[in-house]
Amino acid sequence: MKFLIQRAQPATIAADVLLVGVYENTLQTGANSLFASADAVRMVAHANADRFTGKVGQVSSQFSSTGRVVLFGLGDRNSLSGEQLRDALEAGFKEAKRLKVSNIVVSEIEYPQSGVDRTQFGRLVGEVAGLVDYTMLNYKTEKGGHKPESRFAQVVVASVDGDDAVLKAALAEGRTIAQSVNTARDLVVTPPDIMNPTQLAAEAKKIADASAGRIVCVLHTGDDLKKLNANGLLAVAQGSAQEPVLIELTYYPADADPNVTLALVGKSVTFDSGGYDMKPADGMRWMKSDMAGGAATLAAINAIAALRIPVRVKVLMAATDNMVNEKAYRPSEVLHMMSGLTVEVDNTDAEGRLTLADAIEYAKLNGATHIVDVATLTGAVRVALGTLGAGGFSNDDALFALVDTASKRSGELIHRFPLWAGYAKANESKIADLKNSGGAAFGAGHITAAWFLRKFAGDTPWVHLDIAGVGFKDEEGTGWGVRTLVELARVFAEQPRQS
Ligand code: BES
Ligand code: ZN
Ligand code: ZN
Repeated sequence: MKFLIQRAQPATIAADVLLVGVYENTLQTGANSLFASADAVRMVAHANADRFTGKVGQVSSQFSSTGRVVLFGLGDRNSLSGEQLRDALEAGFKEAKRLKVSNIVVSEIEYPQSGVDRTQFGRLVGEVAGLVDYTMLNYKTEKGGHKPESRFAQVVVASVDGDDAVLKAALAEGRTIAQSVNTARDLVVTPPDIMNPTQLAAEAKKIADASAGRIVCVLHTGDDLKKLNANGLLAVAQGSAQEPVLIELTYYPADADPNVTLALVGKSVTFDSGGYDMKPADGMRWMKSDMAGGAATLAAINAIAALRIPVRVKVLMAATDNMVNEKAYRPSEVLHMMSGLTVEVDNTDAEGRLTLADAIEYAKLNGATHIVDVATLTGAVRVALGTLGAGGFSNDDALFALVDTASKRSGELIHRFPLWAGYAKANESKIADLKNSGGAAFGAGHITAAWFLRKFAGDTPWVHLDIAGVGFKDEEGTGWGVRTLVELARVFAEQPRQS
C-alpha cells in the first residue's frame, strides 16, 4: 500500500472512493465546503435517509457527480480524541474494504482547537488503513497462495494548508506500526507444525537481519541453555521433539540513555497441550496462539527500531512447546530455576510462568532496568475481563503509570489487578521455594500466576500483561500489545534522563 499527499480539493482527485470525516451535526456545512451545491444537497438527503448524523462508527456510502463517497462519523467536535478518531477511521476504512475498492482518497479533517493534531491524524490514517487492509494467511489451494494480496493499493490524503512533511512522516510511522502488528498476527495464526521454536527464532533472526544492524539477535540453544541454568525452559521443552530456544534481541540506539534498558519478555509457547496435565480438546484447540506475547514483543522491537525511538530495548522470548512424551516433565518434579529458586511442578499446564521466570531472570542478569512481560498466561484473566482487555500487574507504581499512559495512547485496554500479600500464599510449596500453580480451589488464577512471576522480578520494576483474553480472536491473531509496547518506548524516550 502506498501513501501519498495531494494538496487539492478532495473531490477533484481521481479515486475509487473518497472518505470524508464528518463531525456530529455538521454535515450541511461540511458538504457545502467540499462539494458542488447540487452534490451537497443530495448528499445531505442521502445521509439523512441513512440516519447518518456523524456519530463515531456511522458511515454513509453514496455517489456524488465525481464518484463514490463514504462519509464517516467523527463524533463530537469538541471532544475529539485520538481514540475517537481511531474508531471513526476504522469504520471508514472498513466500509472501503467492504466495497472492495483499491484507490482511496481521505480528506484531511478539520482539527478542533484542542484535540487531535496533524501528526496524530497522519499516524492514525497510516495505521488504521494498514490494520484494516490485513488479510490472514491461509493454506487454501484454490486461492493460490498463503498470503492473499491486500486490497488497498493507494491511499491519498487530500491535505489542507500546513506542513506536508509532518503529515508524510506521520503516515509512514503509522504504516510501520500497522506492518508490525500485522506481522505479529501472521506469526500467531501460522500453524504450530510450522511455527515451532526454531521457526520462531528464524523469524526473529529475519527481523534483525532486515534492521540494517539496528537490532542484534542472539539465539541460545542446547548446551548454552544448560550453562545458563534455564531449567524452567528446559523442563517445559523436555516433552517435545522440538528444541527450545531462548531468543534475545537487542536494540541499543546511540542516542539512548545508557542507564535505562527496557526488557520486553514475551511468552513464546508455540503449542500448549498442557503436558501430562493435559488440556481437554476445547481448551487445546487454539493453543498455537500461546506465543502471542512473544510475537507482540518481536513485532514491537521491529517497529521501535524502525521508528528509531531513542531507548534501549531488549526482547526475550523463551520459545518451546509444551508436549508429552516419555521424557516430559511431570507434576511433583522440583526445578532449579535460573534465578536459584526451586519450584515444585504442581501442574504441567502452568508452563508459561516457568519459561517466563527464566527469561525474566536472564533479562535482569543482562542489564534490564525495567521489565514488561506479555503473556497468554491464564484462563482466569479471560473469565475476569473477557476479550476486551488485558490484565495488568506490577510491583512498581511508576512503571505501571508509564504502561498505563502508553495503553491510553494505543487504545489497547489494560485493567490493573492487585497483588495483595495474601495471594502469595497460594504459591507456597512444602518441598520447594514455590509451586507453579496456585490451585483451582484458591481461585484468582491470574493473580496467583502474576505473584509467581513477581518472585522472579524481585525489586526490578516490572509489569506483567496477561493477554490470554485478547491475543487471539475469531480464529485470528490480534497483534495485541504491539502498539502499547511501541507507545511505551516513546513514553520512555520522553522521560527525563536518569543521569
Ligand atoms: N496457555 C494457557 C492459558 C490460556 C488459556 C491462554 C486460554 C489462552 C486461552 C496457560 O498455559 C494455562 O494453561 N494456564 C492454566 C494454569 C493453571 C493450570 C494453573 C490455566 O489458566 O488454566
Ligand atoms: Zn498451559
Ligand atoms: Zn500456555
